[in-house]
Amino acid sequence: MQILSTVAEVQAFSARQWSTGKRLALVPTMGFLHEGHLSLIREGAKRADGVATTIFVNPTQFGPTEDLSRYPRDLQGDLDKCQSAGATVVFTPEPKEIYPPGFQTSVEVTQVSQGLCGEKRPGHFKGVATVVTKLLAMFRPHLALFGEKDYQQLQVIKALNADLNLGVEIVGMPTVREPDGLALSSRNTYLSADERRQALALSRGLKAAQALAKAGERDAQVLLERIRGFLTDAKIREDYVALVNAQTLQPLLRLEPGVPARALIAAFVGKTRLIDNLSVVAG
Ligand code: PAF
Repeated sequence: MQILSTVAEVQAFSARQWSTGKRLALVPTMGFLHEGHLSLIREGAKRADGVATTIFVNPTQFGPTEDLSRYPRDLQGDLDKCQSAGATVVFTPEPKEIYPPGFQTSVEVTQVSQGLCGEKRPGHFKGVATVVTKLLAMFRPHLALFGEKDYQQLQVIKALNADLNLGVEIVGMPTVREPDGLALSSRNTYLSADERRQALALSRGLKAAQALAKAGERDAQVLLERIRGFLTDAKIREDYVALVNAQTLQPLLRLEPGVPARALIAAFVGKTRLIDNLSVVAG
């Protein structure tokens, strides 16, 4: 497994890759890798000749009061995991390599970035869109894989890839969960044992709404109240709970057969902000 730390090295690697006609998969991450990330690397290895993983805690996607300085890191552990999952290249740049002095360009996806996390974390998706565009531009992969756990992020990345004609196949992969339903997240490491139990309200609330919809409930308010009941019972503070069109992310008043819908939650468990989402199908 090759380890790269500069943009010039990545560009030279990409040029070699294209000249040999090999297919490259890219898995961008912020490190502290868990099974969710590893499922992306393994899938990339199945679909391409090589998989590049990036490990970069991107400062521009954190707000001033967010957890940038305490974001969990474990570079050696991550490199071992990348290797055993089948990554062929890992890119671990320093922030100044990605944002050198004079850096002044940003990418903003104006529609699907609105609402949900876009509203609650101003500037977040501008930071994500900019760094992902840079990574896609320097690696020029054939495909790039992202988890559906960050569902709005996935839609933002699909939009920038289409709008900027980057020509990458963007692959969304299902959320990987603990056996009890908790969505894997690097931020789960912040949770105490009690908070870990409280956090189950997110996946349980979503599952309950999904079951209610399957049983015939179409009214968004009823479905959202079902989710909120779980959060309230677990004494978790809601950041948002929403039922949206799965593609446009516009809020839905009712489920309609044939219109793909998604229920999304962001909530604070103690000080830790967790997100989760599930598809909801009209029964
Ligand atoms: O999902 C993440 O870990 C990050 O938002 C990403 C896509 C690697 C961009 O920094």
